[in-house]
Amino acid sequence: MVFILSSLAEREDSTLLIKGVIRTALHNMDREAREHYSVVIQAKDMAGQVGGLSGSTTVNITLTDVNDNPPRFPQKHYQLYVPESAQVGSAVGKIKANDADTGSNADMTYSIINGDGVGIFSISTDKETREGILSLKKPLNYEKKKSYTLNIEGANTHLDFRFSHLGPFKDATMLKIIVGDVDEPPLFSMPSYVMEVYENAKIGTVVGTVLAQDPDSANSLVRYFIEYNAEDDRSFNIDANTGIIKTTKVLDREETPWYNITVAASEKDNPGLLSHVAVGIRVLDVNDNPPELAREYDIVVCENSKPGQVIHTISATDKDDFANGPRFNFFLDERLSINPNFTLKDNEDNTASILTRRRRFSRTIQDVYYLPIMISDGGIPSLSSSSTLTIRVCACERDGRVRTCHAEAFLSSAGLSTGALIAILLCVVILLAIVVLFITLRRSKKEPLIISEEDVRENVVTYDDEGGGEEDTEAFDITALRNPSAAEELKYRRDIIPEVNLTPRHQTLSTLESIDVQEFIKQRLAEADLDPSVPPYDSLQTYAYEGQRSEAGSISSLDSATTQSDQDYHYLGDWGPEFKKLAELYGEIESERTT
Ligand SMILES: *[C@@H]1O[C@H](CO)[C@@H](O)[C@H](O)[C@H]1NC(C)=O
Ligand SMILES: *[C@@H]1O[C@H](CO)[C@@H](O)[C@H](O)[C@H]1NC(C)=O
Repeated sequence: MVFILSSLAEREDSTLLIKGVIRTALHNMDREAREHYSVVIQAKDMAGQVGGLSGSTTVNITLTDVNDNPPRFPQKHYQLYVPESAQVGSAVGKIKANDADTGSNADMTYSIINGDGVGIFSISTDKETREGILSLKKPLNYEKKKSYTLNIEGANTHLDFRFSHLGPFKDATMLKIIVGDVDEPPLFSMPSYVMEVYENAKIGTVVGTVLAQDPDSANSLVRYFIEYNAEDDRSFNIDANTGIIKTTKVLDREETPWYNITVAASEKDNPGLLSHVAVGIRVLDVNDNPPELAREYDIVVCENSKPGQVIHTISATDKDDFANGPRFNFFLDERLSINPNFTLKDNEDNTASILTRRRRFSRTIQDVYYLPIMISDGGIPSLSSSSTLTIRVCACERDGRVRTCHAEAFLSSAGLSTGALIAILLCVVILLAIVVLFITLRRSKKEPLIISEEDVRENVVTYDDEGGGEEDTEAFDITALRNPSAAEELKYRRDIIPEVNLTPRHQTLSTLESIDVQEFIKQRLAEADLDPSVPPYDSLQTYAYEGQRSEAGSISSLDSATTQSDQDYHYLGDWGPEFKKLAELYGEIESERTT
């Protein structure tokens, strides 16, 4: 008997409802024991008396889960084999605790609670499978430690306090990890090596030694070799048994100051297993390069130089390393007699100055001087070299600027190609030919002039005519002496009042139609300025403001001409009959136009 059914009568909206209530009959229902139940319920009317009708139905009952079961590891001891070659970070094994509950009630997390492998391994939980995944945190070494133990705990994550008396809801197990021995490649004593060897050392000089050992318990013998690339110049070899590296060539630091080689080691028993190490070989410097001038110097001495004047500063270089290069010493070759012209002063800063020893250098006497010098370096022992400086003599300005050097001019002409020289010569010849031809032609033309020497006569015409003085402007016609363009002005005599000549003005009458009178007056004024018939001297013409109601009735026709315009012709002034005539004419034209 798991469930009990009881009836409950209720009245609802004048209808009698009889409800059946299902109750559990047992105290500890266990989903883990049985999850599903089916109950058949029969309803009978007439209070279940004989003759009553009945109906039945099946009620399916499913028990829901509560977390009342702790996780359990199936075993108290586990064992796991992990090879020492296992990669750090990789998963090395799985472990799973069981939980009778379902859903989130079975969720759990795994942790390493103690053991000697705490720092070496780590455990994580796979949410899907509810497994603990064991990973490697640090590399294993069979030769150092062959086994580890771990205490692993699995604990439920969703706890129900009502069932805490059934707990603890966790379980632990012990995991023993066996480290597997793997045959490993030899191990070098250092992650990389740096060695040094002097340049110019004879072939077979020992550069250094590398050491590698089999890390396995077998401790088999190790063999060494150099892994050269195809382009390497194979300057070293290694003793396969001892790992001693020697030179196979004479090295030159100035050419290759550093070699990077790769040395490989393998075990005699298992040659396939290789390990590599980088070996850097520094080539040490030997003072094998004498110093030399830093560059080609173009040294110039001015003709007006004074004795003791610095004309140039030189410096030196050395291909050798710093210790075998500077500091440089400059000096003149002592075996030669003292040079009376130039001297050298070591500035003790790896430069030297060239000084004059006398005055008055002359290009014409000697345009180039040669000064042999010696340079020694700071190596032990020191090396020295000799060089010759070329000093050109040049003419200079007062401030020392070079004006001209004889040697320079010579050099520039020498620099021309023979082809260019021939071309220039040809041009010169052609020019000369043209000049000669020209001269001969001119001579032949001049000859007939010289022949008729008698034809040259003097023609003297004498005038004896007294002029009329300043008043007599007619005595000479000065117009001939005038600029023809200005001659126009002199059509009329200036001292005679000209007759009124209207002919040029008729031309402008036709245009009167379109222009206003103000414009017209301006034109007139301009014409009067240019008119040759008006007096040449300045004339004062007064134009007075006439006022609104002008008495000048004669030009009233102009008023009608400018239709409904307020314009007044205040400037009409005293233009005399000439203008009146014009105005009348204009008025006529206008009235004709408007009608
Ligand atoms: C050799 O190796 C060093 C350090 O690894 C590097 O600085 C140098 O450039 C290398 N030289 C050559 C010639 O490869
Ligand atoms: C010094 O200059 C003089 C005059 O130009 C010349 O004759 C002489 O050879 C020069 N001496 C040297 C060592 O160049």
